[in-house]
Amino acid sequence: MVLHSTLRITLLTAGLALAVLCHQSALGTATAPEKAPSAKPGKLYTVVDMNKVDPDTLIGWKVWRAQSCSRCHGAAQQGLVGPSLINSMKVLTKEQFVTTLKKGRIEKGMPNFGGVPFVADHLDELYAYLKGRSEGDIAAGRLTAITK
Ligand code: HEC
Repeated sequence: MVLHSTLRITLLTAGLALAVLCHQSALGTATAPEKAPSAKPGKLYTVVDMNKVDPDTLIGWKVWRAQSCSRCHGAAQQGLVGPSLINSMKVLTKEQFVTTLKKGRIEKGMPNFGGVPFVADHLDELYAYLKGRSEGDIAAGRLTAITK
C-alpha cells in the first residue's frame, strides 16, 4: 500500500514536469509579437533599426529640423556654438529642458521658442527624440515612421 502511493506520487510528479516542459517549449517557439507603431507605455520612444521611430518621436525630429537647432548644436547634436545635446540630455531634467526651450537663455545665445507653436506644442516629442539620440538608440539624420 505504501509502495503503491509512492509510485502514484512519482508518476504524478513526472506528469507535471512533462506538462511544464511542453508549456515552456510552446512558449519558446511562439513568434514574437509585432512591434507596436507607437511608444510603449513607460517608454519615451520606440525605435527600430535606429532610424524608424513611432509617430510622436518623428514629430520631435521634425521640430528639430524645422527650427534649425542643428545650426548651433550640430547636425548630430554633437555641439557647435551651443553645447552637445548628447551630453546635456543625460543630465538635464525634463523640467529644465522645457524651461530652456520656452524661455531660452537669451544672454548666453540660446533663443527662446515659447512663442513658436510648432516647438511649444511639441516639447514632449522633441524631448523624446533628443533623449533617444543621447541614449544612442536613435541614429543622427533622417528618420522615417515605423512601418508594419
Ligand atoms: C542661435 C544658436 C542656437 C539655436 C538656434 C538653438 N540653441 Fe540651444 N543653446 C544654444 C546655446 C549657446 C546654449 C547654451 C546656453 C548656456 O550656456 O546656458 C544652448 C542651450 C540649449 C539647451 C540646454 C543645454 C544645457 O546643457 O543646459 C538645450 C536643451 C537646447 N539648447 C536645445 C535646443 C533646441 C532643441 C533647439 C532648437 C529648437 C535649440 N537649442 C536651438 C544655442 C542655440
